[in-house]
Amino acid sequence: MKAVLISALLACAIALPAQAAGDATAGAQKIKVCLACHAVGPDATEKVGPILNGVVGRAAAAEPGFGNYSAPMRVAAANGLVWTPDKLMLYLEKPRNLVPGTNMTFYGLKPDDAANVIAYLETISPDYSPNPPPPAPPPQ
Ligand code: HEC
Repeated sequence: MKAVLISALLACAIALPAQAAGDATAGAQKIKVCLACHAVGPDATEKVGPILNGVVGRAAAAEPGFGNYSAPMRVAAANGLVWTPDKLMLYLEKPRNLVPGTNMTFYGLKPDDAANVIAYLETISPDYSPNPPPPAPPPQ
């Protein structure tokens, strides 16, 4: 009995980090709920919402071709909002909790789905690094 309990606990401990990191393959399916309003990929064009290529790690309201950001989103950007995985998690779960008044009228995702979608968005954000390299040393 004790052994069963311990192995169950171990299984959880091993499963949890994978869950937190999200599954990009599942996210590539789930992103379809976003594609009514957003485009991704090499042929992406602006829709009701901005193109999502490269969004992870980018400042909010900074997609160069999108001219339709709401005033609240621009204010959030001016206050320093950057789309780190943590902020994306909050926004995708309940857009209006993170940016009250955003015109992304989306009901929000469950945490698991949001983590998966973020893992997928990372795969189309080549400039994003969770651990940015240290700044180069000054020239001698
Ligand atoms: C009903 C249309 C709609 C749906 C569905 C939708 N979005 Fe949006 N999204 C928008 C609009 C419009 C904006 C611009 C919001 C603003 O300026 O307040 C936006 C903004 C964003 C931003 C901020 C982009 C930036 O450049 O600052 C992200 C990230 C985002 N959406 C991700 C998603 C993801 C991921 C999904 C699917 C889970 C999704 N959205 C579903 C309409 C939508």
